[in-house]
Amino acid sequence: MKILYATSEAVPFCKTGGLADVAGSLPAALAEQGAEIAVVLPLYRQVRDRFGAELKFECYDYVDLAWRHSYCGLFSLEKDGVTWYFIDNEQYFDRPGLYGYMDDGERFGFFSRAVVRMLPHLKFWPEVIHCNDWQTALVPIYLKDDGVREDRFRSIRTVLTIHNIEYQGRYSRDTLGDLFGLDAGWAADGTIMMDGDVNLLKGAILCADAINAVSPTYANELKMAYFAHRLDHIMRRCEYKLSGVLNGIDMKLYDPETDPRITSHYSTKDMSGKDADKAELQKLMGLNQEPHTPIVAIVSRLVSHKGLDLICEVLHDMMELPMQLVVLGKGDQKYEEFFHWAADQYPGRMAVRLDYNEALSMSIYSGADLFLMPSKSEPCGLSQMIAMRYGTVPIVRETGGLKDTVQPYEAWRDAGNGFSFRNYASGDMLYVIREAVYLYKDYPEAFGRLRQRAMESDFSWARSARDYMRIYANITGQIWTTAQNEPEEESVEAETAAVPAAEAAAEVTAPAAQEQPTEAPVAAEESVPAAAAEVPAEKPARRTTRKTAAKKALAKTAARKTTARKTAAKEEPEELPAEASAKKAAAKTTTRRTAAKKTASAKETPAEMSAEVPAEPVAKEKPAKKSAVKKEKTTKKGPAKTEKEDAAE
Ligand code: GLC
Repeated sequence: MKILYATSEAVPFCKTGGLADVAGSLPAALAEQGAEIAVVLPLYRQVRDRFGAELKFECYDYVDLAWRHSYCGLFSLEKDGVTWYFIDNEQYFDRPGLYGYMDDGERFGFFSRAVVRMLPHLKFWPEVIHCNDWQTALVPIYLKDDGVREDRFRSIRTVLTIHNIEYQGRYSRDTLGDLFGLDAGWAADGTIMMDGDVNLLKGAILCADAINAVSPTYANELKMAYFAHRLDHIMRRCEYKLSGVLNGIDMKLYDPETDPRITSHYSTKDMSGKDADKAELQKLMGLNQEPHTPIVAIVSRLVSHKGLDLICEVLHDMMELPMQLVVLGKGDQKYEEFFHWAADQYPGRMAVRLDYNEALSMSIYSGADLFLMPSKSEPCGLSQMIAMRYGTVPIVRETGGLKDTVQPYEAWRDAGNGFSFRNYASGDMLYVIREAVYLYKDYPEAFGRLRQRAMESDFSWARSARDYMRIYANITGQIWTTAQNEPEEESVEAETAAVPAAEAAAEVTAPAAQEQPTEAPVAAEESVPAAAAEVPAEKPARRTTRKTAAKKALAKTAARKTTARKTAAKEEPEELPAEASAKKAAAKTTTRRTAAKKTASAKETPAEMSAEVPAEPVAKEKPAKKSAVKKEKTTKKGPAKTEKEDAAE
């Protein structure tokens, strides 16, 4: 599979946000899955300054866009099985920053046009171009536009990943022809228009063959007005090709056992290094040297959607608790001023650094005990995963990727890997902070086990890469078997064995009905019409957690109980409805498990997820090839045309 990954930033070359981390790690993970992969990004000044000596000049050409005829150089670099291409045009990219210029539309219009027009100069003709956010949103649009005249562009399938729907690339109507070189038809039928403006992201959502959000929950949220920044109806319309793929983190780079950026190393087997790192952090930040006081940390851009208003509301209540608070980040002036002022009120207990400082952030991840991230919305979020890897237990609001990565602590069965609250309400946040702080103070052993579960959570990129490979296979009509890569799913028995005794005891007494709602959508799946098999495979099970393991175990126990009852007691032919559904659920789980083993492209979906994305059935038992071929037929018909007509507003 030949994939071209188009991005406007990537670690280690250039970074302003999480997109760079993703673009820096995912391509290598895709290469490990057997993809032939190249990445293309602009040759910014900082890339030239830092990596200039390593870059190889490939060629140059001219790119036509509207009335412009611009020079376009192509440089390359090989790294970790990935070819990195850099698009050179000094007028557009030889600037100190990446974004924030008044001609950003023109700059990324040029970049997207160059990605398409420079294809003949790359080492391969891609089968899929994978675009990210608005900066590369014009690529699927240009491919449709050029495809009308040139067959070779029609052969390329496109994926669009939405990292944050807030940024859509909105420009005035007159830029359509003048800047982006598109004819009036694109506006007339509404494909690229939104609220009277050219909206690049909207155009790409309609034109791409598959779209995905960076977590399953965010994919679901994008269909709601509260989260979608006016694109919710478009997302609902494109639901058939929408999925959620959770980001990972670089598990080697972020490893407390080996990370050279932290003072003392540690692992789940020996946590003493973390105590040393904590003492070091307290020293560094001027906090009281109190080994038994939990440090709550915030490492964040100081902007509103990170949920900082909640903290401002109850900061003084928080500081009544026996805890210390560390804040690292910069952003909106009002938050900077607030935190600066607040730190003065609590010398020795609260410390603030208004900075973006990677070295200090690593000292915080390793030295703190709790990591606070109460985001209003969070497409995926990487810092909670990094914090967990370093044994800093997260406290998050249940939104987007935060919900998908943090399973709330459940004292009664000693489960979960963090703390969470649902409503965007400061009282609710304070409640869980209090719960976390007192668990740390009063039940250090239980807190230790919770911390261990956080550290053991699997956030590796391999899983996400497999999900993307499945999407590529779906849209290109190719079969992709995971046989050599996919680890065998842990057997239910093994998972059951891992459930602690208390949990196992709870299994016996916990009413089956309690677990039913989560399994209910599975039954709904059975009634999915055949046509639904065309839907791209939905995001499969992400993290095997103790919680899901316990659920599976519970379902299995329910099945066993029911079977036993059936055989042993014929005089009891009528099952209680609750038991009947538990049995059905368990039977379905077993079927799914068998199917997952048989079907390469199939994986299990967490029950919660099915519940949340009811309209997106999981194409699990479908033969991958058949669905892909069907899908291809639909796309080949020329979705641009039909969708354009469809999209007229
Ligand atoms: C954006 C999102 C963030 C996500 C990142 C990578 O920065 O705001 O939640 O983790 O992209 O996908």
